[in-house]
Parts: sequence; structure tokens; C-alpha cells
Amino acid sequence: MRLLLATLFTAVLAYDPTLGFNRALVVENRTIDDIYKAALAEGGVVNVWHGGDESGQQAELKQAFEARFPNMTLNVTVDLSKYHDGNIDRQLATDSLYIDSAILQTLHDFTRWDLEGALLGYQPLDFYKIHPAFRHIHASWYGVRLFGWSNVWNSDRLADGPKEFTDYLKPEFKDKLVLTYPNDDDAVLFAFDLIMQQYGYEWFEALLAQNPHWVRGTATPVTLLLQENTSFVASFTTSVGLAPSSPLNVSIPSEGNFVSWPQTAGIFRDAPHPEGAKLLHNFMLSDEFQGAPGSWSVRKDMPAPAGYDAIMDVQSTNPVEFSRFMGNRERVERLRFFFESKIGSAQGLSPLIDNL
Ligand SMILES: *[C@@H]1O[C@H](CO)[C@@H](O)[C@H](O)[C@H]1NC(C)=O
Ligand SMILES: *[C@@H]1O[C@H](CO)[C@@H](O)[C@H](O)[C@H]1NC(C)=O
Ligand SMILES: *[C@@H]1O[C@H](CO)[C@@H](O)[C@H](O)[C@H]1NC(C)=O
Ligand SMILES: *[C@@H]1O[C@H](CO)[C@@H](O)[C@H](O)[C@H]1NC(C)=O
Ligand SMILES: *[C@@H]1O[C@H](CO)[C@@H](O)[C@H](O)[C@H]1NC(C)=O
Repeated sequence: MRLLLATLFTAVLAYDPTLGFNRALVVENRTIDDIYKAALAEGGVVNVWHGGDESGQQAELKQAFEARFPNMTLNVTVDLSKYHDGNIDRQLATDSLYIDSAILQTLHDFTRWDLEGALLGYQPLDFYKIHPAFRHIHASWYGVRLFGWSNVWNSDRLADGPKEFTDYLKPEFKDKLVLTYPNDDDAVLFAFDLIMQQYGYEWFEALLAQNPHWVRGTATPVTLLLQENTSFVASFTTSVGLAPSSPLNVSIPSEGNFVSWPQTAGIFRDAPHPEGAKLLHNFMLSDEFQGAPGSWSVRKDMPAPAGYDAIMDVQSTNPVEFSRFMGNRERVERLRFFFESKIGSAQGLSPLIDNL
């Protein structure tokens, strides 16, 4: 009986710490090499779940981390953030947490997990260099990368690429657009919401008349743009960075609002490898990682990519807005089902099916 009660108790341990006050906060005061030593002593492993839609999408992160920190293993699992979060909830609810860090697009989960007391208040070394809007006041979460959609086209098939969302309505794009279902990815849903609040429902009707090819996954458009046996030329629901290799080329709208957001990370309070998770977060916020060419940084002090304004000065995007959009789940759901009623539920296998 006592054993049973103990089991029940641990299974419902999630709680709201609001009125406990005196929040625990760990302020990093070691060098990254000392954190590395602690992570090795802990076992040399970090389990991170990263949002995305192709299993190999974080291979570069794993490679860069393991090259920088020999004998560390970054066990990174990519899945849609909207699937990762429920599985994390299940781990938390059953006291069987085995992941250390989550890096997701579902920004509303972090505020919820923080309220549940599930996250570790932890200020990495470069915490105050992160833009204030991208970080939680008690350091339960913070953006670690700046993601967004842009216009992407295959310049072998199209000399002059689209710039504004109205360009996609030109006759030359009939049957040649490849787009991710807005009802399968909330960041794509937000793109359609922004565009249609600006250009109206008529824009969407005209887009449908172009007969776009709908796909699952936000990397799939690029795959199809590059495939020899397709005739797709452009997309606005994908990302290849701002300095892609040929034949891909990109632009951002200056009149239309496009989507950008801080991909957000948190360490779980009961993470089995807290030192490994701290090492990963410090690495991802370092000059070395944030300074990668071709993308904006979540840090205030890093230069913008060549030819672009700083992310907070780009008038056609607001990277803070996405978390407000994501926080209103009722509105998200209404939008999602609206699009489903127009273009049907997402068809085809998840691009992550090779994970199963
Ligand atoms: C460094 O941080 C740890 C954990 O927060 C704390 O216990 C320790 O006193 C700090 N050391 C210094 C030198 O500030
Ligand atoms: C990594 O592990 C190998 C084999 O145990 C050991 O020889 C080497 O010194 C380690 N390197 C570091 C940086 O810990
Ligand atoms: C790596 O992650 C996978 C998926 O999350 C998990 O099944 C596996 O146990 C992890 N490996 C280690 C060594 O923790
Ligand atoms: C197009 O090419 C890809 C690989 O290059 C192949 O997997 C696919 O089956 C081909 N599709 C058609 C319709 O031939
Ligand atoms: C990319 O497109 C822009 C504008 O359409 C053009 O000025 C630039 O030369 C193109 N870059 C490449 C590498 O083709």
C-alpha cells in the first residue's frame, strides 16, 4: 500500500511553483571548458529533441558539437514540434523523463512548462546578449536560433524570382509552385494568416487558381525545386538561409509580412544530463555558432547577414509576433480547420516516416 502511494505520488509530481516564490536560478559562472569537463564527468551524453521535419536536419549541429567537444555524444532526435511536445508531456506525467533539452517551434509549450515548474532556470554565459524579447525573465527558456521563411526559387528555371506575395499570382507560376500545407505546420499557417490579413481572401482564391502542389514538411519544397524530374520553380513556405548555394536563390518581401521566430530552448529541471544540456546551450549561443553566415542571430551583438538589416530593424517581419500567434491555440485551431476545409487534410506520408 505504501509502495503504491509512493508510485502515485511521483506520477503527479507536476506542480505550479508560483506561490513558492524564491525561484531557483542557476547563473553560469564557469568557462565553457569547465562546463565541458562537468558534462564529461556526468557521462558525456546529451539527449535533445529538436523540432523539424526531416530526420537528418540537425546532423550539422551534432557534427559541430561533437567536433568541438570530443567524447561528448549529442543524441538529437528531430520530429515535428507538435509531436515532440506531447511525448515530452507524457514523460513528465509518468516521471520517466529521459530528455535533457527541447528546442522547439511550439513556443507556447515553454510558457506552460515553466508554469508547471518543469524547466530549469538557467542563465547561459551569453544570456544577456540574447534579445530581451527572445528570453524568459527567469531564464527557463530562450531563443537559440532565428528561423523564418523566405521566397526561394530555382534560378536555373526562373531568372527573376518572386519578391512580394502578390508575385506568386503571376501567370508564369501556374502549376509551378510547391507549398507546405498550412494546416500541417503552424509556422506555415501563420504565413498564410499574415498574407491574407494583408491581401485578403481574394489572394488565396487567386493562389488556388495557380494550382499549387501541396506537400508535407517545410524542407520538401526545396527537395522538389531541385529534383530534375519536376517543373516546380518557387516556394514561400521553406527556408534555405539567406546565402544558399546555386541554383537556389532567395529574397524577402519588403511590403508583405513574412514569418520569423526564435527557435526556443529549455532544459528540464529533472534532466538526467543537466551539465550536457548546459554545454549544448552555451555552445549554441556562442560567437562561433551564432556567427554562422547566411542567417540572423538571436543575439543583439552579432552582425546581420551581408546585405540585410538587423532582424529587429526589418520592417516586413516581427520575430516576436509568432509566440503571440502560437499562444492563442483557439484561433490557431480555427485557422487550421478553415484551410483544411479549402485544401483538404495533409496528404502523403510524413517526411519523417523514415524515423519509424
Ligand atoms: C557559481 O555558481 C554556483 C551555482 O549557482 C554557485 O554555487 C557558486 O557560488 C558560484 N561561484 C562564484 C564564484 O560566483
Ligand atoms: C576521449 O576518450 C579517449 C578514450 O577514452 C581518451 O583517450 C581521450 O583522452 C579523451 N579525450 C578527451 C578530450 O576527453
Ligand atoms: C537517444 O535518443 C533516442 C530517441 O529519443 C532514445 O530512444 C535513445 O535511448 C537515446 N540514446 C541514449 C544513449 O540516451
Ligand atoms: C523523380 O526523381 C526522384 C529522385 O531523383 C525519384 O525518387 C522520383 O521517383 C522521381 N519521380 C518520378 C515521377 O519519376
Ligand atoms: C538572386 O536574385 C537576386 C534578385 O532577384 C539577383 O540580384 C541575384 O543576382 C541572384 N543571385 C544569384 C546568385 O543568382
